[in-house]
Amino acid sequence: MTSALSSLPAFEHLASIPLYVPGKPIQEVQRELGLTTIVKLASNENPWGPTEAVKSRVMAAVAGAEFEGLGLYPVSDGWYLRQRIAQRKGLTPDRVILGNGSSEILEMVAKAAFLDGGSAVIPKHSFAIYGIATQTAGGRVVESRASATELDVDDLLRKVAPDTRLVYLGHPNNPTGIRLERAALERLVRNLREDIVLVVDQAYAEYEDPAEYPDAAGYLDERPNLLVLHTFSKIHALAAMRIGYGLGSKELMQYLERVRSPFNTNHLAQVAAEVAVQDLAFEAFSRQKNTEAREAFVAEAAQHRCRTSGTSGNFILLESAFPAAELFKELLQRGVIVRPMQGYGLPNHIRVTFGKPEEMAAFWKAAGPLLDGGC
Ligand SMILES: Cc1ncc(COP(=O)(O)O)c(C=O)c1O
Repeated sequence: MTSALSSLPAFEHLASIPLYVPGKPIQEVQRELGLTTIVKLASNENPWGPTEAVKSRVMAAVAGAEFEGLGLYPVSDGWYLRQRIAQRKGLTPDRVILGNGSSEILEMVAKAAFLDGGSAVIPKHSFAIYGIATQTAGGRVVESRASATELDVDDLLRKVAPDTRLVYLGHPNNPTGIRLERAALERLVRNLREDIVLVVDQAYAEYEDPAEYPDAAGYLDERPNLLVLHTFSKIHALAAMRIGYGLGSKELMQYLERVRSPFNTNHLAQVAAEVAVQDLAFEAFSRQKNTEAREAFVAEAAQHRCRTSGTSGNFILLESAFPAAELFKELLQRGVIVRPMQGYGLPNHIRVTFGKPEEMAAFWKAAGPLLDGGC
């Protein structure tokens, strides 16, 4: 960037921050490559939704008197949805905050925490928004040790400095698909300095077996500086609606409320999410389908002698013997969109979201011959 603008110190700083690169949209690939049949396995959406129950609720909201209500501002703090979420989580509504996607809550907490500078500790290979939110809020990123298959909590704790304000943990982590065992999570929650906000991002938690998953929300009463994030974009299948939520202490929520922009979640998203958050049967169904897709994928990858990693979430990492950017491009030409991972420090991995069986068949039809040349 070379203009008078780039001489502003703040803009110079902004220009040095990596841009978030989203999964390629289907319409863009159709436009660019002239393909008609495209399978998108790039952004960890749930292929089985949204549900009919959500559809009925949204249809009702765009009809009759409720339609006229769309001319008015929505409930600014999403009180009715917060009440539903609170009921489900066994909390009071004043411990729930909504965001325009959980990404917005990641931005809110960074905006609040780095108002006077400081740094965040972020494990290597974490979701890109942690670093972007930190840096755009004026914070500094300190990376802790992690690999495609392991998350080192002790190094995370070791990297904490006097100016650390936030620590982020993807749980499970995207893109590596790993999560902590209970003992490690507990070590982090209990040993992290009390004045640091621990952000545990549980965007994919609902894909975990509830009997085994160590939910960080279980520590909310122990640690006032804990923020647990969830989204409606993944298992609840409402990614286009842009809505997510955070759970924390009443005190932490009061600070976040000061950086939340009024009316940040819209009416349609709020009512759709009210239905979705109560639909435990759809969650269980989606979880089961995801487990089946994972098992089938791992078996097929083994047939091609390809290595996979990650055991959590609705996605998997596939390692190739050649740069993943090339594999991504070849798959795109064949109408299959995946996510190359070079931007996450994993140049030989692609991340594949689990789609419906016919979508996974389309993936292997395209990828199989490419991978047999060397995986
Ligand atoms: C780990 C993680 N956290 C948060 C998000 C953001 O979700 P949203 O802003 O759609 O709620 C994503 C989306 O891919 C994610 O992978």
